Amino acid sequence: MSRQTDAARPLSSGTGRGLKGRIRVPGDKSISHRSLMLGALALGETEIHGLLEGEDVLRTAAAMRLLGGSAARDADGVWRAQGRGNGGLAEANDVLDLGNAGTGTRLLMGLVAPYPMTTFFTGDASLRSRPMARVTDPLRQMGAEFVTRSGGRPPLAVIGTASPLPITYKLPVASAQVKSAILLAGLNTPGITTVIEPEHTRDHTELMLKGFGVDVRVEETPEGRASSIVGQPELKGRKIIVPGDPSSAAFPIVAALILPGSQIVIENVGLNPHRIGLIETLLEMGASIEIENARVEAGEKVGDLKVTHSHLRGVTVPAARAPSMIDEYPILAVAAAFAEGETRMLGLAELRVKESDRLGAMARGLAACGAAVSEGEDWLAVTGTGKKPGGGAHIAVNLDHRPAMAFLVLGMAASRPVSIDDGSPIDTSFPGFADLMNGLGGSISLKNR
Ligand code: S3P
Repeated sequence: MSRQTDAARPLSSGTGRGLKGRIRVPGDKSISHRSLMLGALALGETEIHGLLEGEDVLRTAAAMRLLGGSAARDADGVWRAQGRGNGGLAEANDVLDLGNAGTGTRLLMGLVAPYPMTTFFTGDASLRSRPMARVTDPLRQMGAEFVTRSGGRPPLAVIGTASPLPITYKLPVASAQVKSAILLAGLNTPGITTVIEPEHTRDHTELMLKGFGVDVRVEETPEGRASSIVGQPELKGRKIIVPGDPSSAAFPIVAALILPGSQIVIENVGLNPHRIGLIETLLEMGASIEIENARVEAGEKVGDLKVTHSHLRGVTVPAARAPSMIDEYPILAVAAAFAEGETRMLGLAELRVKESDRLGAMARGLAACGAAVSEGEDWLAVTGTGKKPGGGAHIAVNLDHRPAMAFLVLGMAASRPVSIDDGSPIDTSFPGFADLMNGLGGSISLKNR
């Protein structure tokens, strides 16, 4: 099914020369969403440096303004939010349209649930097909009510509660979005709200809450890691430095690994231990990736990555690693098509419910590019020969930024060019992607329809 929009921007990429240069990728999407939300709840000003100005995050900024916050970009490129204080959100007088952003939607559903007000949410065709029961189930336990389309999908209304209840909730799926939605709901709830996660997911919410002065306790229990917050704290405005998004850095990393003659440095990449599963996997595959200048900035680990073209070998990627690289499987699958031997990726059920069914999309697209692929309900296997695959396919990306970028990277190193029906979703997370890759020596261009 193609869901190409009127404003579709078909792109193609052809075999390029080796990539060279030093770049920075745009700010981390997860951290950017959270900084705007928490900035709106703090007392005083929150300064955000390096915010991702992608469509997903700009939708969150607009939503925070509808909820009474003020987040705006100053001439110096720094975003400043004047907070309303915790508990100070106001009812939005319009529908919150979060576009393509599942993270923005789910986190905001948690944020507004403990307020006596009704908030309406919608988004694009991709967002309107995504399951929300994973968030509505725990938030109902806290006292909120919901009106949703069939299957719990948006458009939906959150009917918030004046008397929210703290809960202890064990996550049935490994999801930082669900964990964060509950912790954010806990902010305006009296008592202690606890989320237990059997598998560890990214902890940006916990780290950032601590930075705002919130008492966040994290402990290991027999059931999993328990993160608790004491409700109704005061958040103090602060300075946030958003690192480069490792999920965006993944695309130039793999492009440099598979294009002979490449050597690049990507500066200032976020290296939160819950986000580096792709780097771990690529190192196991034989990749040359060196971390330089490792440091901690505003509570998050950061470093520069030096990446050199490498001969890759297939590996098995265990299911336990999936949460730390959940957005990176599309580009890992491309790397696997250039590797020698089988790469088997396990525990991928969540890929079926991302911006599109990414497991199915990668299996179909890679097969169309001449790669040997097999797929199960929750696994994907790609077998390469160590030589470049054929390419030469036209791929429908179904409003999904990450397969879009992954197939353009494949086209940069395959025997024949690859095209995609619509590159516009790339702006949700990686504005300037094509220019940045072309600046390194890539060959991405608008395709004549
Ligand atoms: C995110 C968590 C992940 C990830 C998404 C961003 C976050 O989703 O896929 O792009 O910012 O918390 P899940 O929580 O659904 O795994």
